[in-house]
Amino acid sequence: MPATATDPKDQPKGGQATGAAGAGQSTAKEGLQDVIAGRTAICHVFGGDKEKNYPGRLIYRGYDIDDLAQHATFEEVVHLLWHDDLPTRSQLDQVKQQLGQNRALPSEVIDLMRRFPKDATPMDVIRSVVSTLGLFDPEGAVDTTEANHNKALRLTAQMPTIVTTWHRLRQGKDPIQAKPSQSTAEAFLYMLNGEEPTDVAERTLDVALILHADHEFNASTFAARVTAATLSDMHSAVTSAVGALIGPLHGGANEGVIHMLQEIGEPEKVEPFILDKLKGRGARIMGFGHRVYRGTDPRAQYLREMSRQLGERQKDLKFWTMSRNIEEIMWREKTIHANVDFYSASTYWALGLPTDLFTPIFAVSRIAGWTAHILEQYSDNRIIRPLAEYAGPWQRSYVPIEQREQTAQEGKKS
Ligand code: SDX
Repeated sequence: MPATATDPKDQPKGGQATGAAGAGQSTAKEGLQDVIAGRTAICHVFGGDKEKNYPGRLIYRGYDIDDLAQHATFEEVVHLLWHDDLPTRSQLDQVKQQLGQNRALPSEVIDLMRRFPKDATPMDVIRSVVSTLGLFDPEGAVDTTEANHNKALRLTAQMPTIVTTWHRLRQGKDPIQAKPSQSTAEAFLYMLNGEEPTDVAERTLDVALILHADHEFNASTFAARVTAATLSDMHSAVTSAVGALIGPLHGGANEGVIHMLQEIGEPEKVEPFILDKLKGRGARIMGFGHRVYRGTDPRAQYLREMSRQLGERQKDLKFWTMSRNIEEIMWREKTIHANVDFYSASTYWALGLPTDLFTPIFAVSRIAGWTAHILEQYSDNRIIRPLAEYAGPWQRSYVPIEQREQTAQEGKKS
C-alpha cells in the first residue's frame, strides 16, 4: 500500500515544504504578486511609491525610458534589447536593413489568411499566424543561437505585416508590401493606409513602440519564458505570449479604454459614469492600476503628451480632456495612476487607427521584448516549474460505481 498522503494537520507549519495548505495558513502568492520568479538583464521596473510620491521608473538594459523615448528610435531599442547595448551607426543600419528585408509573409500564409472568417479579431489572427509561420520558417526546427536570433528578427519584422495584412484582407483589399527602407512605424502606417505617413504620425507611433517594447516579467513575457524554458521553439513561445496579451487585464485594456470613452460620449458625463462604475464590486476602470507601479507609470506621461499634441493639431481635444478628468477622479477616489494603456487609446485614436488594432500595436512592439526574453531564457535555462498550494481533500477511498450510483439515487429521493 503506497504511503498515504499526509493530512494537512501533519504538515510542517505552513505547508510550504510540500505545497500543502496548512489549515488557514495559505502561503500561496496569488498572481505571483511580489514573487521574484527569475533573473533578467533586459529590463527593470522600479515601482515607485504612492505615499512618498516617488514616480515609477523603467530601464531597458540600464537606459532610462525617458532617454529612450526622447532620443532613440524603435530600431535602436530592438538592437538594445537583443544585443545588450545601443547600436553603432553600422549596426543600426544593419538591423534596419534586416527588418526591412524580412517583412513579407510567405504567400502560403497569406492564402491561409484569406480563408479566415472576416470577423476574426486581429489578436486571434496574430496568434494563429505566428503559430503558422513556425511551419514555414526556414529554421523552424533549428534551435541554435544563430537560428533563434534569425527567427526573432523575422518575427519582429513580420508582426506589423500580419496586423496590416489582416486589416486589408478583412476589408476585401489586397495587402500592401512595405518598402525595405521604411522604419517599423513607417512601414506599419504605409501597409495599413497605402500612403506615406506624416513625420508626426511616424514619430508618434515610433515613440509608442519604444514605450511598449519591454516590461520585465509581465504576463505575456513570462508566458513566453515558461514555454521557452521547456526548450520549446521560438514560434511556440511567442504564440504563448500572444495568447496572454489577448486578455483584457493585460493587453486588451487600451481597446477597453477607447470603448469606455465612446460610451461616456461627452465630457460632462465623465464624473457620473466613473463614479457609477466604481460602485460595482471588483470594478476595474481600464487603463488604471498596475501590479508593480505604485507610483506613476513612466510611460503614461509620453502618451498623455502625444495624445494632447495630436488633439491640438486636429482641434479635437475631447477624448484627451475626458481622459484627464478620469485621471483626476481615479486619483481622488482610488489614489490609482493611469498606466501605459490609458493614453495609448486616445493617441492611437487621434492617429486614425482602428480600435481593434490598438492591442495588436502592443504586439508589434512587445515582440522585441518577448524575443529578447526568449533568447535570454535559452542562454541560461532551467525549466520553470513552481509548487502549488494544495487546497483539495486529502484522504478519500475509492467507491465502486454501483455504490456511487445508489448514493446518488438515495440523494435524489431525500
Ligand atoms: C499592462 O505587468 C505589466 O507590466 C503589464 C503592462 C506591460 O507593459 O506589460 O504594464 C501592460 O497590462 C497594464 C495594465 C493593463 N490593464 C488594465 O488597465 C486593466 C485594469 N487594471 C486592473 O485590472 C489591475 O490594476 C491590474 C490587472 C493592472 C493589476 O492587477 P492587480 O495587481 O492584481 O491589482 P488588483 O486587481 O488586485 O487591485 C488591487 C486594488 C483593488 O482592490 P479590491 O477592489 O480588490 O479590494 O486596487 C484597485 C482595486 O480597488 N484597483 C482598481 C483598478 N486596479 C486596481 N480599481 C479600479 N480600477 C482599476 N483599474
